Amino acid sequence: MITLHLRFPEAERSHPILLTPGLLDRCGAALREAGLEGPIALVSDTTVAAYHGARVRRSLEEAGFPVLEILLPPGEKTKTMDTAAGLYRRLAQGGIGRDGLLIGLGGGVVLDLAGFVAATYMRGIALVSIPTTLLAMVDASIGGKTGVDLPEGKNLVGAFYPPRLLLIDPTALSTLPPAEWRNGMAEVVKAALIGDPELWARFREDPARWAAMPEMESLIDLLIRAIAVKVRIVERDPLETRGEREVLNLGHTFGHAFERISGYRVPHGEAVAAGMMAAAALSARRGLLKDPHLLQDLEGVLCGLGLPTRWRTWLAGYGIEATPEEVLAAMGTDKKRRSGRLRLILIHRPGQVRVHSDVPDEAVLQALEGTAGL
Ligand SMILES: NC(=O)c1ccc[n+]([C@@H]2O[C@H](COP(=O)([O-])OP(=O)(O)OC[C@H]3O[C@@H](n4cnc5c(N)ncnc54)[C@H](O)[C@@H]3O)[C@@H](O)[C@H]2O)c1
Ligand SMILES: [Zn+2]
Repeated sequence: MITLHLRFPEAERSHPILLTPGLLDRCGAALREAGLEGPIALVSDTTVAAYHGARVRRSLEEAGFPVLEILLPPGEKTKTMDTAAGLYRRLAQGGIGRDGLLIGLGGGVVLDLAGFVAATYMRGIALVSIPTTLLAMVDASIGGKTGVDLPEGKNLVGAFYPPRLLLIDPTALSTLPPAEWRNGMAEVVKAALIGDPELWARFREDPARWAAMPEMESLIDLLIRAIAVKVRIVERDPLETRGEREVLNLGHTFGHAFERISGYRVPHGEAVAAGMMAAAALSARRGLLKDPHLLQDLEGVLCGLGLPTRWRTWLAGYGIEATPEEVLAAMGTDKKRRSGRLRLILIHRPGQVRVHSDVPDEAVLQALEGTAGL
């Protein structure tokens, strides 16, 4: 068993992160050891539940917890206020009171939604997160952000509400579709660039090795490293008030623009990959790169992982056309633009990224032109 900790300034928000193969089959005991009590509402989506629900339920019941299982349709469309409202009612009808415990078992959609419901139902009940996608293990489950989407935009309603316990079982990833592995790997590459030069070096040496899930030892190492990068940043800026969390947006200002232009038809991980490439090109143009091979290396890593590097070529594959000017305009609506200036996360070297708010639009356009492809 590997135990990491996420420490917030307020002790009651701090929590352990347990990571071990087979943890899904022992989650009931893990909850008991953490001193958590039931009754339990287990929230998942139908896909995840079909693969892993029975293991989790059995383990909880063996540990003596009464379990109310609530299953939702998979996908981002589920992450709404309407679904949250339905969940509140199911909890009330199921007799879950203030002493109840809500478990989110699934990808980022389930965890964000379950977390938001736990934060607000009866002004907050205990939450346990069990992520089952790579993205959720290294990103969505770390840092206490929960929320739902509105028709007006993603994640517009939410709360900072960390779980009491975060349980990560790498074997859950054995059923993950290859596209979801790639999606998560975009965020792992991001984490490596932000804060783990050694992990970056491993990707650079043999990118294709990471195109599909590696053997268990390497997988665990990858998870711990990526999680540790996010934990370190979140601990310094738990409520996103100090600006330090902003570096986690590497590739995302460009990426969100690509997603917006596509009407959210492209996968997030692909958008982040193409966005990191544009951010790296911009860093090179601004003379910031202390590693002259970085742009080429990044292209090699992303290609090896099966992720896009040339945004216009990639978007064309989805039947979407866009000019650099249109991408820039779509970046302008991003919340990362403050007082008229884009705030961009640029790379100096692997392990050193910085927020820049002095980049002229002309330079952004040139970087986009340089990484467009076609
Ligand atoms: N709270 C945060 O800090 C944070 C950070 C990043 C992303 N997010 C949110 O996370 C969401 C995306 O998360 P995601 O990529 O995990 O998407 P997701 O939850 O939609 O999961 C992707 C798909 O994989 C399926 N799946 C999940 N686990 C599986 C498994 N083990 N085997 C087989 N299939 C499985 C799901 O049913 C779903 O169809 C977005 O809503 C995003 O806003 C939140
Ligand atoms: Zn992301």
